[in-house]
Amino acid sequence: MSFDIRDVAGVDWSERADEGYAALIESARALVAGESDLIANAANLSSLVYHALPRLNWVGFYLYDGTELVVGPFQGKPACVRIPLDRGVCGAAARTRSTQRVPDVHAVPDHIACDSESRSELVVPLVRDGELIGVFDLDSPVPDRFGDADQSGLEAIAAVLVDAVA
Ligand code: SME
Repeated sequence: MSFDIRDVAGVDWSERADEGYAALIESARALVAGESDLIANAANLSSLVYHALPRLNWVGFYLYDGTELVVGPFQGKPACVRIPLDRGVCGAAARTRSTQRVPDVHAVPDHIACDSESRSELVVPLVRDGELIGVFDLDSPVPDRFGDADQSGLEAIAAVLVDAVA
């Protein structure tokens, strides 16, 4: 494994998010290279993203057990353990298999507040060969934290995980 968190340190995310995500995606690929274990890779990717990106209070994975989403590797405060597919932003991402970007979680009646500090959220579904694996969930204490570059960059990082465990 060749990886150094300094590769993505010092990035100006407000001005140069595309360059930052290019470096972060490369780091993510290096981090999972040669390893197919889902938990190991999800753990390292949650740490990578949590430490690289500013203004986040939770980054991690919920894994699908065939019935509902169960909390997996993450960084941040302890979180809700089980989320049915018909509940919350994570459930919506899993059910619809499309990324959910919520600029203001207080405006979403269905939002599950694990940490009252969370104000905006991005959830990317993890799907391999048509099968739901889980979701990649990011929370921010800043309203409207996630833009287009964040969405596409974090979808690419989710794809790195899905490809690694294939
Ligand atoms: N807010 C999520 C629940 C997970 S926590 O944010 C870690 C939701 O509404 O699905």
